Amino acid sequence: MSHAAVRAPKASAFPDPYSLPLDKIDVAQAELFQADAMWPYFERLRREDPVHYCAEHEFGPYWSITKYKDIMAVDTNHQVFSSEASLGGITIRNQREDFLLPMFIAMDPPKHDAQRKVVNPIVSPENLEKLESTIRERAGLILDSLPIGETFDWVDKVSIELTTQMLATLFDFPWEERRKLTRWSDIATTPPGTGLVENEEHRRAELMACADYFVNLWNQRVNAPPGNDLISMLAHGEATRNMNRMEYLGNLILLIVGGNDTTRNSISGGVLALNQNPAEYAKLRANPSLIPSMVPEIIRWQTPLAHMRRTALADAGGKKIKKGDKVVMWYVSGNRDSEVIENADSFIIDRERPRQHLSFGFGIHRCVGNRLAEMQLRIIWEEILKRFSFVEVMGEPERVYSTFVKGYVHLPVKLHKLH
Ligand code: HEM
Repeated sequence: MSHAAVRAPKASAFPDPYSLPLDKIDVAQAELFQADAMWPYFERLRREDPVHYCAEHEFGPYWSITKYKDIMAVDTNHQVFSSEASLGGITIRNQREDFLLPMFIAMDPPKHDAQRKVVNPIVSPENLEKLESTIRERAGLILDSLPIGETFDWVDKVSIELTTQMLATLFDFPWEERRKLTRWSDIATTPPGTGLVENEEHRRAELMACADYFVNLWNQRVNAPPGNDLISMLAHGEATRNMNRMEYLGNLILLIVGGNDTTRNSISGGVLALNQNPAEYAKLRANPSLIPSMVPEIIRWQTPLAHMRRTALADAGGKKIKKGDKVVMWYVSGNRDSEVIENADSFIIDRERPRQHLSFGFGIHRCVGNRLAEMQLRIIWEEILKRFSFVEVMGEPERVYSTFVKGYVHLPVKLHKLH
């Protein structure tokens, strides 16, 4: 998401969560995330009311699940906690009924399982191995083109560029037009009126233009032998080849957003985390072999998707969750649950079990691209360390206005060359 019309309030502008009656706590406010001020709110919920009901919200009442083990329990119980788009889907904001975009992340079995299987080969170990040298070469080119000793926006020049190139590779998308992918990802995740598109009509028109563009690519690939790009996989896949236009668009948006915002914000988040924790940066410089354990730590620390939502298909839990209720799993909170993760608030690049985090979810919807994302981050850090002694953050980051995508609009940095 590259636009934020609303300026971030300061964290001090929000009331102390401990001064509020528990039932008045509402963590699902984009302003809180934009100001990075949500942490004490989640801390209080974890401590005092880990399965918390918020009765009043612009998107309707919702439950917050804030502890690691409870989130795992919900995420792995798809029989009771549904992802179906027609029930509202997978974010706190319901999918709009007059513009439903079916996609397999917002489906329950058996259709979910069949469609997921179609795209799974994109992340097979053999394919990842093939992608590695391409990603490394492209990452190197991007890093070599950056200015030394002057301030620039890391988000735009590195994080967006690298993930967009990656997506273009996965889709075998026309190379020169790859920034269209960034644009469509932003459009899909940004509500109208926040600077990117004026209104819902404009937004839909752009998404339909995205569909047209991809229908063309589909038509080319469906008549060619099966290839190992995502469009060819969808066009030839048993469970996907008869999708209608909206379902094709929905699944495309899933793959574009899934692989875009998340990895982009992990690339930026890593730079920020290392700057805020200079001792960890020093450890990394002294020992680049820590990169493979640093990468999952960055993904935990950043938690690029702050939540996933489910709808209860039956009454559940010791609490009073009722059939039809909206249930929000706050990964961002579970990842700071010190009952499960030692020193959960600290960024530690050589943790004992760095992969113990919720950022990729669990259960049948666990992120398809998790190994690919880790590989991308590992490569970019290997290439950064070969070139620069310090990626120095030069000012406050501008954060995304969202309770779903947790990330950065801008991050000013200055590069110092390795001597
Ligand atoms: C650091 C990077 C990433 C993060 C944090 C992330 C996070 C997530 C999360 C939280 C889910 C839902 C899990 C659940 O409901 O239990 C998910 C699903 C998914 N992700 Fe990722 N993701 C990342 C990178 C990627 C990449 C690179 C791709 C591209 C190939 C991708 C594609 C998907 C898809 C297709 C799904 C839907 C899976 C399903 O419904 O079965 N993700 N991701």
